[in-house]
Formats: sequence, structure tokens, C-alpha cells
Amino acid sequence: PVIRREDYTPFAWMVPETRLHFDLGLEATRVVSTLTIARNSKADRSPTIRLNGDALELVSVCVDGEPTDSWSMDGDDLVLSLSGDVHQVEIATQIDPSANSQLMGLYGSNGMLCTQCEAEGFRRITFFPDRPDVLSTYSVRMEAVKAQFPILLCNGNKVEEGDLEDGRHFAEWHDPWPKPSYLFALVAGDLAANSSAFTTMSGREVELNVWVRAQKEGGSDLARTEHAMESLKKSMQWDEETFGREYDLDLYNIVAVSDFNMGAMENKGLNVFNTKYILADSDTATDADFDAVEGVIAHEYFHNWSGNRITCRDWFQLSLKEGFTVLRDQLFSQDMQGEAVKRIEDVRILRSAQFPEDSGPLAHPIRPDSYREISNFYTATVYNKGAEVIRMIRSMVGPQAFRAGCDLYFDRHDGEAATCEDFVRAMEDGAGIDLQQFRLWYSQAGTPKVDVALEHDGSTATLSLKQTVPATPGQPAKHPMPIPLKIALFDRESGQHGGEQLVVLDSSEKELRFEGFSRKPVLSINRGYTAPVAIQRSTPRDELVFLAAQDDDSFARYEAMQELVVSHLVAVLGDSLTDSEIDAGRASIVEAMRAILTDNALDDSMRGELMMLPSQTYLAEQMLAADPSRIHAEREALKAWVGTHLQQQFEELHDRATAVPATFDAASRGARKVKTQALVYLAAADPDGTAKRAFAQFNAAQNMTDRQGALMVLTGLDGVERTNALLDFYNRYQNNALVIDKWFVLQALSLHPNAMEHVKALAKHPDFTLRNPNRVRSLYMGFAGNPHAFHQADGEGYRILADLILALDPINPQTAARFVPPLGRWRRIEPGRAALMRAELERIAAAENLSRDTFEQVTRSLG
Ligand code: ARG
Ligand code: ZN
Repeated sequence: PVIRREDYTPFAWMVPETRLHFDLGLEATRVVSTLTIARNSKADRSPTIRLNGDALELVSVCVDGEPTDSWSMDGDDLVLSLSGDVHQVEIATQIDPSANSQLMGLYGSNGMLCTQCEAEGFRRITFFPDRPDVLSTYSVRMEAVKAQFPILLCNGNKVEEGDLEDGRHFAEWHDPWPKPSYLFALVAGDLAANSSAFTTMSGREVELNVWVRAQKEGGSDLARTEHAMESLKKSMQWDEETFGREYDLDLYNIVAVSDFNMGAMENKGLNVFNTKYILADSDTATDADFDAVEGVIAHEYFHNWSGNRITCRDWFQLSLKEGFTVLRDQLFSQDMQGEAVKRIEDVRILRSAQFPEDSGPLAHPIRPDSYREISNFYTATVYNKGAEVIRMIRSMVGPQAFRAGCDLYFDRHDGEAATCEDFVRAMEDGAGIDLQQFRLWYSQAGTPKVDVALEHDGSTATLSLKQTVPATPGQPAKHPMPIPLKIALFDRESGQHGGEQLVVLDSSEKELRFEGFSRKPVLSINRGYTAPVAIQRSTPRDELVFLAAQDDDSFARYEAMQELVVSHLVAVLGDSLTDSEIDAGRASIVEAMRAILTDNALDDSMRGELMMLPSQTYLAEQMLAADPSRIHAEREALKAWVGTHLQQQFEELHDRATAVPATFDAASRGARKVKTQALVYLAAADPDGTAKRAFAQFNAAQNMTDRQGALMVLTGLDGVERTNALLDFYNRYQNNALVIDKWFVLQALSLHPNAMEHVKALAKHPDFTLRNPNRVRSLYMGFAGNPHAFHQADGEGYRILADLILALDPINPQTAARFVPPLGRWRRIEPGRAALMRAELERIAAAENLSRDTFEQVTRSLG
């Protein structure tokens, strides 16, 4: 069935109190739940209460202390008939966590028991109104065999613990903050903690723990939790300073688990994390991994206010908590790592993950209107575009008014299940801005295109802007949206501009006049990437070279470099250039790259960003029907050209960066970034010479950043260096699953011509398993993101991915469905491949017993 946003109705009952009793066991867990329920005066009166269930074995039902048979099953749901206004409902169920391969609800992971309830996993633990607008206060008693499960954790504060007979023990937990069921969590296992404390701004002492498995092959992970702990403290302090938000319990627990469908989960007082976003030390994690840990820790922590204290009324409002929280974590990371580079990274993610959603069959607004399976809507659109939409409000009103709007939102809706509309209204009232037209950003899908032209006449510069919001599935016609664009007009000679300004394009077309320009200025537009749109303009190459070399807005500088390369490659791919035009295009890219390599005022971290070529996905986005092998070939050819013409500069850069001592400060991190970037160009220009250089970097590496960077380059090359490095890396990290994931992903993503054969062999490797989402993603997301392998013209790549989806779907539908979108791109690929992609989607659609998750994605992709 399709669930629609417009069909929302409040639940007929309130559940002020929930008591849960768990008899925990890996194969059999007994759950007794006691719900105090009362009629919801704000809803229509109903003779029944519907309690959602999924894969539960019902043991007994009592109402007000008496066994009852006035219940029935409606599908998976339990429907109870009730006559009074207030009741106590007691339900006993049994579940088998060891059989739970979906990793939703209560499941076993390496002998530990843990939960994932968002979005609809709580119904796999007990019968309950499993919807985010039913808030309840939870008291939980956990009992288990002490030797097997010495640590028993749940939400809130621990109120009692003790030993029982037969080697069993118990713990009782109480969470004073009413919460929806998706924020429930429980963990039981043999765990060890990195413990510390934080004093909040009002003087509350909070105990902090980061828990990992105590016993582990190759030693405990405890030593790798320090960065996570530090990140947590920084997040707590930053949220106090920046948003005035303080933590509200005496305890904050984080548990790392190795089998997890997503990145992490913000359960109240008990975050559960994918180990990938907890464990980090310089031997096993790259600088980027360290940043990802910091960002995800912050994200889950920030959810305590944007998500938990104020939650979502229904799942259509998901961006209310996710978009806002992503923005909050982005702003935090900007403050920690530097604004310019972080902004570029975030835009790169938006363009590579969200733009394809917006331009494909799965396009949806940040607040969707309908779904079959909500798990399919934890998307880059809801998360990352959602963050961009709120960022636009911030850009329009400024940080101070934005803070006032946030304050009002937190104040007005604390303790509620709110809507995106509530947020927008709080912003209007608190920040003092009219967002009537801006609301379209919540309801319209598709990346707006903005055509830009600058004319010059006399002393007047005229900027013409025109927006089009493309049609998307179910939304053929669109209204113009307010698009805030920060601009500056540079005087070419002096390299100066007369100040930035923010213009808001709020109609389909607009003309703006600027006086006092005796020469035609150079336009810098969408500075800082103020709006998540695609700017379309034909800027003369020399202007792009100028901006790439000297725009004072770092993002705009990056953008000019990207535009220079994109416009060149798109023209080459469109076969519209003469040989001499191709040479001129390449020459200007080499010139811009030379300026980047030699600009001493630039720090290496930014240099590394400027050095990156636009991804093949982003290039394909610029074309109506892309030919992936040609994109790949032309992009590689350009890389080789640049590498050849600047070989000496890249070698010097690599040598200089190699001489920087391996520490964790910004300069050293920057050096590591450009080091590997330099290798990438050198490998394209001179594979044999670079194999030796990369192998030397690999062997000398004192950290994972250098080691992985070198190995990434080596996997794309042939020769003994490749073989030896891969073997050495494997042997060294055999017992470290997260590093072995890297070993899989590097080979799956590699430029090596036989990458597909490597993927097929790796699928049979003893370390490969469909049961671990990280491992599956490493191999197959790597593969699906490797155009030259995945898009092999005979369609074998598509068949491999479809086979994976069919094999994974019965085990873990949520993760299986995430592999459908790469096949869903068929409309934007040349006809030969498109037909093969479609055929694979049809083959999946025809399979029996397909999950709701995969069914929805496949049918939407077929259109
Ligand atoms: N709320 C979590 C986060 O943003 C994501 C959990 C999503 N889980 C899921 N099964 N869809 O950090
Ligand atoms: Zn989140």
C-alpha cells in the first residue's frame, strides 16, 4: 500500500507510560510490555487500538490485568477492542534475535544484542503504535546470563542493577523524556568502555561512555575510541555555544557495532553506531575517516535537540530532523576543520549523491508526498538537500536572526512531534522573514537550473537570471522558487571587487543593473554555494582561469576550476570542438592547474580540493544521455595530459609533501592530501614511474592516509608493486574488518582495466559475506561507483549488481534496495546500455517474494 502525507490523522490513543521487561537471549528473547493507554482527545474516538507488529510470536494479551480474547490480527498488526477511556494493556511476545538478518529491531552482532528501531523496527520487538507521534515514558527491566551479557544498557538513566539466581543478572533503566518508539534502544553484551565526563553550561555533570566489544580477535578496539570521545565533548560544547542547547541526562552512552545498516542512530541517551564512525587511529583510519567520525558523532549528538526533544509528527517530516541536523553538523565541522574546505566537500557530496536523485526516477521533494517503504527515503535529498534548504534561510536572514528563529523553534515545540511547516513558521516568526514562496523548496523536487548572462554597456553591467525547475515524476509543472545567490563583480585588472551582495531570484526571470563599470567585470556567482542549483552560463575560458586563480571566495575558486574542466569535457564529448579548440581548452586547464600548484598563499588542504577533477557522475549529469566509457576515457585522457604537462610540478609537490613530518596538524594533513592527488596525475601520465613512487609512499607510510592513498593509485596500475602492496596490506590488517573493507573498496573502485574481474573474484573471497552491510557496500557500492567497470558495454556489470540485489533482498531488504538507484539511471545513459539496465530492473521486478523496499525502488526506477 502507498502511504500518503495528506492522509495523516492523529492516533486515537495516547501511551503515557511504557514498561518493558526483557528476558534476553540470542536465540530467544521474551518481551513483556505493559502499556498505559488513554484516549487521545485530539483524535476521533475508536473502538479499537491498532498495535503494529512484524515477525513477532504472540504469547499472551491481557487488558487491565485479565487475559482477553477480544483481539484479532490484521496482517502483522494486533487490533484490540477496548470500551473504556483508560486501560492497561499487557502483551507477551517472543523473538529470535539470531534469525534477524534484516538488522531492524533486536538482533545479534558478534554475540552482542543490539537494536535499530528507526524508522519502523520497534514493531519487531513488541506490538506497539510504532509511529513517531506517539510519545511515551519508558521504564525497562533487562535480565540476562551475566557471563554472556555482563553489560546491560538502555535509554535514560540506570536506576537499579543486581544479581539473580542461576548466573543471571538484571538492570533497570528509566528514561524521563517522553519519546517515540523509534528512539528506543537496548544493548547487551561483553563490552568495554572508554569513559569520561562533561560538565554542561548549567553545571550538570554528564558521564560519557564509548562502548566497544571487550573481547576481539586482534585485541580490543578500546584504544581506537579516543577520537570519538573527544569529538563528543567538542560537539556538546559547540551546541551550547552556537545553538544554546544543553544535554539533558546524566549519562550519554555510545555503542559501536560492526553489523549496522546505516551510519549511526541517535537513540535517546544510547546512540548505536556503525564501528566505521567510532574506531579511528592513525594506523587504521585516514584523515577523512577521522573527520567522518567527528561529523557523525556530532550529527547524532545534535539530534538530541533536533530529533529527540522535538521529533517528527510523521515520516514525511523526516527532513525536519535530518536536514536540520545535517546543517548543524556541517556548521560544526566547518568550525572544527575550516569553513572553505568543508563547504567544498559538502557540495561535492550533494552533487554526486543528490543531483542524480533529483534528475532521475527516484526524485522526491525534501518532504515527500508518498511512500511504500520509509527506509527508501533516508536519502541525500531528505538529508543533504534538506540541509541546503535550511542553509538558504540562514544565508538570507544572517546567522543572528537564524539563531533567533532556531531558539523560537526549540522553545515553541519542545516535547512535541512537529512538522516542517512548524519549523518554517518558527523561522518566519523568530527570524523575521516571509517564507511563503520559499515553502516551495519543501514541496517541489528537481534541481533548479539558473541561466546566467552578463552584458556590459557604457558603465553598466546587466546581469540576467532565469530559472527553470525541471519536471520530475508526478510533478510536471513547477513554480519559480526564491533562489538566494551571493555574487561579486571583479575588476579584471585590479583583481578586486566592490563587495559581495546577495540577490534573490524569486521569479522566473530577473535583470539586475550595476553601475560604475568602465570595463566588463568578471562575475562570481553562487559564492559559497548559497543555493543548491545548477548554474548554466557560458563564461569565457580566460574569466574562469582568472577566477580559479584569484577569486577571494574559496568555493567560487573551486567552482571556476570545476567549470573550466566540465565545460571543456562536455564540449569534447559533444564532438563540437576542432583539434585546435581542444588544445586551447587543455592549455587553459593546465594553466589554471599550474597556478594552483604554485600559489604559495594557498594551504595544501585547499590546494588538494582545487586539484580534484569533477567526478564522472557529475559529468554524466551534464549530459542528456551519457556514454560512460567515453566520459571515462576523456576524463582519463585529460588527467594524463595535465599530468604530462606538469609532471615536474607534480613530482616536486609530491617530494615536498613527502618531506613534511607525519603529524595530525592541518599542515601535515594538507600535505598528505596533495601527496596522493599528485600521485593520481602522475599515474595517469607515467604509470611505470609512478608505480615505483607510489610503492615507496606505501612502504614509507606511517599512517593510513598515506598507505591508502598509495594503494588506491597502485590498484589502478599493473605490475609487481600492485600485487605486493595488496598482499602486504591484507596480511597486515587481516584482523581489522574496517581496514579489510578498504581493501575491498579500493579494488572495486580501481582504474584497473580488469576491475570487474577483480570484483567477481572478491565476491568469492573467504572474507566476503552478504551478512555484513559494511562489507557488501565496500565491494558493490565501490563497483557501482566505478563507471568503467560497472558500465561495461555488454551489460555484465548490470547483471552482477542485479544478482547481488536478488541475493541480498531476502537477507537484508533495506540494504539490498540501496543498490537499485545505480540501475535506475538508465534514462540518462546511451540507448544500448539503457536497454540492458532496464532489462535487469525488469528481471528483479519479476522475482517472487520481493521485499517492499526493493519492490518500491525497482518499480519507481522502471517508471
Ligand atoms: N536517524 C539516523 C541518522 O540520521 C539514521 C537511521 C536510519 N535508519 C534506518 N533504518 N533507515 O543518524
Ligand atoms: Zn540523522
